[in-house]
Amino acid sequence: MNATAIATVSARQVFDSRGRPTVEAEVTLAGGASGRASSPSGASRGAAEACELRDGYPDQFGGLGVSLAVAGVKAEIRPALIGRDGLDQHGLDALLRRLDGTPQLSRLGGNAILAVSIAAARAGAAALGQPLWRRLGELSGGGLPASMPLPMVNILSGGLHASRGMDVQDFLVMPIGAATYSQALEWALRVRAAATELCEQRSITTLLADEGGLSPGFEDSDHALSLMVRAIERAGLRPGEDAAIALDIAASSLTDDQGRYVFQRAGVVLGAAGLIDLLEDWAARWPIVSIEDGLGEEDWANWPELTRRLGHIQLVGDDLFATQADRIDRGARDGAANAALIKINQNGTLTGTFEAIAAARAAGFATVVSARSGETEDAFIADLAVGVGGGQIKIGSVRGGERMAKYNQLLRLEAEGLSLAGWRTND
Ligand code: PGA
Ligand code: ZN
Repeated sequence: MNATAIATVSARQVFDSRGRPTVEAEVTLAGGASGRASSPSGASRGAAEACELRDGYPDQFGGLGVSLAVAGVKAEIRPALIGRDGLDQHGLDALLRRLDGTPQLSRLGGNAILAVSIAAARAGAAALGQPLWRRLGELSGGGLPASMPLPMVNILSGGLHASRGMDVQDFLVMPIGAATYSQALEWALRVRAAATELCEQRSITTLLADEGGLSPGFEDSDHALSLMVRAIERAGLRPGEDAAIALDIAASSLTDDQGRYVFQRAGVVLGAAGLIDLLEDWAARWPIVSIEDGLGEEDWANWPELTRRLGHIQLVGDDLFATQADRIDRGARDGAANAALIKINQNGTLTGTFEAIAAARAAGFATVVSARSGETEDAFIADLAVGVGGGQIKIGSVRGGERMAKYNQLLRLEAEGLSLAGWRTND
């Protein structure tokens, strides 16, 4: 057998940062090179994203076990992959999709397929003796030089990540004035510490939400925005110049069955026009440079109006695009959003993720490589963001081993001499 031929594929059930089962896979090539990877898992999931295959046995992990997904790797994926060229990432990913046979990878599970896809990429890089980020840049064919991404870092959490303690899911800091990645990280750490102190001063609980952010439970989003500005100032930074605010509204998770947006904590129900007015008002009054999922994932009718009104800042499609190239193409045609969140498990394969990044580039959209609220210690997305020159990265807060594994991997990559991608708005 050729040294780069796949010799074996194995899989097992491991646990993510919420203590829920997920799939870990390992691919070994005939020459001995191997790679391992595990799949993350979201809570505010888009309807268009790749499916997770969960056992559904109520007596095991509340139905969330992945023994069927693991069994599928052993019974179907392993025999199909053995003997194939481990360096042919695109061919392997196409084979995995064909083998599954469903549009959203519901039969074998996107959680199983992604873990195998990423493990194969690692094995390939190891066989070539290449750093993973460099291998990913080559495989993506994206044409942008490798660079350090600007992190957007969760400070305050609400929505599905914090028992709906606040209406808006994420209040993040973007250290837009930082000169290097390590400076950006240090500034974010300072803002996070300052936010903790401000909460403690006001006897607000500082327990961690799912992504390691604080959840002060404000009914009124203006209070959260005000806390963000004060935390930036307390960290010795200038709001809007050194560090700005990004929001993830996660509007799909606020949508009721009539397509209205329910701000439960604030006690208001808004139509799309009302929500656009609200976001415009926030963007006028606060140093906000990016808003993600400002409208729901199927609200294609109103996204163009949001983009017309607020397109001078970054408008990111997460659930809207679900890391699917065809949905990003539609966004470009309709004038919906101007940036795409890139989540590997929304797509399900590495090649499909590259296609989504290419679609975003073709549209002139910025990209934000993103973790999920349920993560493992796998730091793959750090190498991905660097290798494809992704520009920005969203990992959650600067707490928890599953988050810090990525921030720390980025520090290692920065030591290779890569520079920070510049931050620009569409002003
Ligand atoms: P999720 O949230 O991983 O729970 O989907 C992350 C996000 O909405 O950006
Ligand atoms: Zn989101």
